Amino acid sequence: MLKQTKQACVAASLNDNKQPDDSSGCYPAPLRAARRLTIGALILAPFVLALAACGGTSGGSATPKAPAATAASESNPAYVKAQELFTANKCISCHGVDLEGKVGVKTNLQKVGSKLSSEQIADQIKNGGGGMPVYKTKLSEEEIGLLTDWLSSKK
Ligand code: HEC
Repeated sequence: MLKQTKQACVAASLNDNKQPDDSSGCYPAPLRAARRLTIGALILAPFVLALAACGGTSGGSATPKAPAATAASESNPAYVKAQELFTANKCISCHGVDLEGKVGVKTNLQKVGSKLSSEQIADQIKNGGGGMPVYKTKLSEEEIGLLTDWLSSKK
């Protein structure tokens, strides 16, 4: 039995210089273990590298903290959302796309942030008045908050 295995090994190693299979028992146990470890390391290496690469970038722009609607930027979700609300709720029909005002001087909102406090702006949006409709029944507190923050930044 032992003799047979040995012969198989010799035959295998003579054959084209190929490494005989682990299962043939040609390698002493520690060597086989070492070989397995090497293979394991080779298989794992790309994953470890990929993980390291991910870790390297996550510190950068992966999870930016959401800024308030006041930070004027097209990449600011709150700011963009406020602009969408302003269009969707027909504010633009009286106040204009550029806040220039369409129905009188008071409808110009380009500098409303220096003219009114955010409480006053929120109050006007909620209760309307002076020709402006009431919005507290149409918009949520959150939506009014977004619009208020956005308009308060217009100075
Ligand atoms: C039907 C026309 C109309 C619509 C629609 C409208 N407004 Fe107005 N808005 C006005 C008028 C008119 C005034 C001036 C009221 C006054 O004389 O006190 C005004 C005033 C304001 C003011 C205060 C400006 C100031 O200087 O006193 C804010 C802020 C404002 N509107 C925001 C909005 C927002 C936000 C929307 C949409 C959610 C909106 N408005 C929709 C007509 C409108």
